This record gives sequence, C-alpha cells and structure tokens, in this order.
Amino acid sequence: MLSPELQTQIETAAAILRKGGVVAVPTETVYGLAADASNLEAVKKIFSIKGRPADHPLIVHIADEAHLSHWAREVPKAAKLLARQFWPGPLTLILPRNPQVSNVITGGQDTVGLRVPDHPVALALLRALGPVGALAAPSANRYGRISPTTAGHVREELGDSVEMILDGGSCQVGLESTIVSCLAGKVTVLRPGGIPLTALEDVLQQKIAVMDGTDAKIRVSGSMLSHYAPLTPLEVLPRDDFWQRACDLQAQGLRVATLEWSAPDANLPQNTVNLTLARIVRTTMPANPVAYGQLLYATLRQLDHAQFDRMIAEAPPHTVEWLAVTDRLRRASYQT
Ligand code: TXA
Ligand code: MG
Repeated sequence: MLSPELQTQIETAAAILRKGGVVAVPTETVYGLAADASNLEAVKKIFSIKGRPADHPLIVHIADEAHLSHWAREVPKAAKLLARQFWPGPLTLILPRNPQVSNVITGGQDTVGLRVPDHPVALALLRALGPVGALAAPSANRYGRISPTTAGHVREELGDSVEMILDGGSCQVGLESTIVSCLAGKVTVLRPGGIPLTALEDVLQQKIAVMDGTDAKIRVSGSMLSHYAPLTPLEVLPRDDFWQRACDLQAQGLRVATLEWSAPDANLPQNTVNLTLARIVRTTMPANPVAYGQLLYATLRQLDHAQFDRMIAEAPPHTVEWLAVTDRLRRASYQT
C-alpha cells in the first residue's frame, strides 16, 4: 500500500509527464529517468539531461505483459516464457519492434527493449498514465557514471535538471536489469543483471550465451567498456595480489580504500595491519552475490565522497552467480 502522500506525488508526476516533462522514478533495480514513451519531444529531453548519445536505445517500461504487442511486432515463445516467469522484475527483453516505435527510442535499431518493473511506485505511475501507459527510461545517472539506487543519488547526479524525483527508498536489487535479446530464434544475454543466468536457463531448458562485453557493434551502453564508473580510479585484483598492491600504493603516499568479500583477515600479511590504520581503509562487502550487488553502487559512491586516491576491489569468485557483479566491477575499473 502506498501512503497518501506518495499517491499524491505520483499524480503530480503523472501530470508532469503528460505535459512532456521528465521525472526520476524508483524501480527495483536502479532509479530511472522517465518520460512518456508516446511523447518524443519529452523522450529527447532524457538524452540531453543525461548527456547520452542519441544512438543509444532506451528501455520502454510497461505495466503489463499484455501491452507487449503494442511495441513488439513479434513475441517469440522464449520471450513469452521469460516474461511470464520474471515480470514484474529485473528482466529486459529485446524484441523486433513494431514499425510505429520511434527511432528516438530505439536508437535507430529495428528492435525495442521492454520491461515491467517490480516497484509499486513505478507501476502506479504507469497506471496513472492511462490503460497502456509506457515510460521510456534509462538509469537516472549522467552518461557513463554509476546508476543511482536512492533518490539522494539521483539529486547528486542530475541536480535541478530533473523536474521531480519520486522517492521510493533504496532499490532492492541495486544493479540494472538482465537484458535478454530474443531475435531470429536466438536467445542471448546482452547484459547480466538482476535475474541470474541459471534462472533463465531453467525456464527455457537450454544453455544461453552471454555476449562478450567487448563487442562494440551492438549499442548497449552496458557494452561500452568504460561504464558504471566511480570518480576514484578502481582496480580489481585477485586476493593473492590484493594486499601487495594496496601496500605498494600506500607506500607511494596514496590513500587506498578496499572492497573485500572473503574472510577479512585471510591472507593478510602481518605487517599490513598497522598500515591499515594509516592509509588503507577496508570495506567488508557481503560474500553473497545478491547482497553484494545490492550495495555495490552505494558503496562506490560513498567511497568517492571520501576522496580516496585509489580503490581496490577483490575479484569476485569465477562462478555464474557473480556474473553481474563481475561485469560491473570490470566496467567500473576500466581505464581509457
Ligand atoms: O534496470 C534497468 O534496466 C534500468 C531501470 C531504470 O529499468 N534501466 C537501465 O537503462 O539500466 P539504461 O538505458 O541505463 O540501460 C539500458 C540498456 C542500454 O545499454 C541500452 O543500450 C540497452 O539497454 N538497450 C535498450 N534497448 C535496446 C535495444 N533495442 N537493443 C539493444 N540494447 C538495448
Ligand atoms: Mg545506464
């Protein structure tokens, strides 16, 4: 149940959207920067607010699977099965677009990304827009930066350039949706995210390929190598190299913040304990990939604020459960 205040705010947000404005909206993954998907002038504002190149497609958020046919000219069986199982939820389906879907939304591609978010505020806003209300929304950060997982993060990223920020609390998933393309009879994960690969494979009863993030031909911003980046340079290192590197950096006079998920003092050389007190500040992250994902962006932001010279994250385990976290750390750490 939404509070009466939140309900009033949702009505105000719907009115802003109807007039062609842009509103930040909580979802279960990250906050989105939303415009009425049927108003192209409004959708264009998203690109200028974010500083996002026009050829990067936006996800269209809908309230119900039943609205799919409005946007997609074809919904393959695999897509239907996935939608039925995971919507509302952190899954975006890439499908062949209907001809009337604008290039402004699709970035000129013949496909469209669709998802039903699992957040009461986002769903209420979609319904307030009308029976087939749809919101075009990327994550509510400036281009290339960390996605916001609280209303405060959105304010930090976008300031007054967004007319209204609906506050739905901290995002439960904390990482973006899993993007699955269902095209030409082939199912491929374009971006690992909130729905684990194994859960998709269980539903479809088949192995699913995960696109290598270095394929630059497809304009998925998650596929750009440098993305989701904190301001402080981040390195990702296996546990074995971790402390040596931290000590080397601090010997150069740098302030270092670490993100560690394995038992805090395992493999820690004796002499680094004192150094820890001086210039190395350690953050213990959850050893569980879901809990880690939930905290990752908020933690990177917090450490950015503390103005360390360097961050070092302990490399996650090489298991499929850690795919989304590993992907985000890799992109966050890539130095151009
Ligand atoms: O969890 C999420 O997906 C969040 C929330 C707000 O829903 N949204 C999000 O949007 O992460 P954005 O724009 O930051 O990332 C969506 C990704 C982009 O990399 C975009 O290129 C890709 O989805 N995308 C959208 N439509 C596409 C399409 N037709 N083909 C390929 N990729 C597409
Ligand atoms: Mg984004």
